[in-house]
Amino acid sequence: MAALTVLTKSLGYHCAKRSKISTFSQNFPSHNSRFQTLRTLILEPSLSESVKLNRLSDYNSGIVEVNLDRPEAKNAIGKDMLSGLRHAFEAIDRDSSARVVMISSSVPKVFCAGADLKERKKMTAAEVHSFVNYLRSTFSLIEELQIPTIAVIEGAALGGGLEMALSCDLRICGENALLGLPETGLAIIPGAGGTQRLPRLVGKSIAKDIIFTGRRIGGRDAMSMGLVNYCVPAGEAHPKALEIAREINQKGPIAIRMAKRAINEGIEREMVSALDLEEECYEQTLNTKDRLEGLAAFAEKRKPIYTGE
Ligand code: COA
Repeated sequence: MAALTVLTKSLGYHCAKRSKISTFSQNFPSHNSRFQTLRTLILEPSLSESVKLNRLSDYNSGIVEVNLDRPEAKNAIGKDMLSGLRHAFEAIDRDSSARVVMISSSVPKVFCAGADLKERKKMTAAEVHSFVNYLRSTFSLIEELQIPTIAVIEGAALGGGLEMALSCDLRICGENALLGLPETGLAIIPGAGGTQRLPRLVGKSIAKDIIFTGRRIGGRDAMSMGLVNYCVPAGEAHPKALEIAREINQKGPIAIRMAKRAINEGIEREMVSALDLEEECYEQTLNTKDRLEGLAAFAEKRKPIYTGE
């Protein structure tokens, strides 16, 4: 692993269940801080030029940003970018200092245009099968990260781009966002979790409307149907996401991980078993230094300082 590199990065752009995750196929080796400057660290070189992994520092320490940067193809996901995404999220999964993840784009007016359709045209059916399986398992890896994830959507989030956002815990978009699953228009179906995560989020009926028609939905409509958590003026999704990430970052890290686990796993269970899970997750917070620190800080009328212990 290369030595950590300190750089200054402008944020002015517009920016478990491990068994479920399949192995790398043989086909694919293996508020308003818009104009503010923040110091970041590159954790390690990405496998792909199109995916940057940045670790914010100073008072944003603990926030990690995965930045999509493939302007010539509007961040369409081909083999190279998929390798980069996988590498980035595996690195985050191993990083015990990471507390919140933001996925953003440095390409103006686009979050991600989905699968690389030019590359796809040259693939055999078997290659498409392997690619889509790997894409699906990579998005499952995002969903199963123990820490919260936030998709920062300015402009288009289509097909696999929206599916990536759906695998995040929160979605924040600008009013100019265009979200959609256009796959049926290409005579295929969403294959990287879209048919499963969208109805779980917005309900079966709305999901069917979106998938059957392939219609592109604007930011405000996305907000009203619960597809995104926040819709902010165009260009302000990144500072809003950073604001939310900072709020989460101040909370007890073990509590945040346990809350995510209780919600994600509990919602798939019937109530009695789900409440047992809540008890199990609560127990994990009981014998922690952070719990005592929270009580001490309350008594002393000061902000708690949590260490994740
Ligand atoms: N795969 C490969 N290349 C893509 C792409 C994709 N999914 N989406 C865009 N591109 C390429 C375009 O082909 C174009 O390349 P060219 O300059 O060689 O012609 C370049 O990116 C710019 O795209 P363009 O359409 O001119 O940009 P735009 O700003 O007008 O529109 C989008 C951006 C994302 C709205 C539009 O490109 C689009 O709708 N893309 C297809 C999205 C899609 O259907 N994804 C689902 C896949 S299942």
